[in-house]
Amino acid sequence: MSQTVNADDDLQSLTQQSKVAIKQLGSALKHTLTSTMKAKGPSAALEVCNIEAPIITTSVSTDQDIDVRRTSLKPRNSSNAPDSWERQILASFEQQKNEGVDMSMLEHGAITVIDGEKIFRFMKAIPTQAGCLACHGGTVKPDLKEKISALYPNDTATGFKEGDIRGAFTVKIKL
Ligand code: HEC
Repeated sequence: MSQTVNADDDLQSLTQQSKVAIKQLGSALKHTLTSTMKAKGPSAALEVCNIEAPIITTSVSTDQDIDVRRTSLKPRNSSNAPDSWERQILASFEQQKNEGVDMSMLEHGAITVIDGEKIFRFMKAIPTQAGCLACHGGTVKPDLKEKISALYPNDTATGFKEGDIRGAFTVKIKL
């Protein structure tokens, strides 16, 4: 009985830690994106995203001692492609959204075993907002599209509409 309670407590605190790391990564990325968009426009912001997003992602993970990244069923950067667990959760988020579940509720945490190692994993859906469409929408301006193709020859992250699931934050905490 007490063990069950402890396990619940652990899950709650792991979920909490994951959400803190996600907030930190989310706001660092947003800050960099919006300040560059405002000052220099989408083309410069694209270059900043290209260089800074992976650096910010790595530094937030190192600070927190937690692995936090972004992933998507339609990634731009192929190193953000989902593994099989992430793919399954992203597919279930899509299904829940189609069934009318509010996007803010789309999160999932579980203790998993990878290569014999116990790992807590957590994912939270990322909504597509109006401000994302310049670079992820259905009609990306030709000069921007050209730049995206040059930086990401395997880009699949266009054609999104406001309110679509753009992807998810994904966290791993070694236990
Ligand atoms: C200025 C162009 C630009 C805008 C605006 C933009 N993105 Fe991106 N996005 C990128 C680039 C470039 C990458 C690849 C960065 C990397 O290497 O992680 C990316 C990657 C991502 C990823 C990681 C998965 C993947 O596809 O590689 C997510 C999730 C994402 N963007 C969500 C958003 C959301 C949500 C918004 C709006 C709030 C947004 N983006 C606005 C350019 C942009």
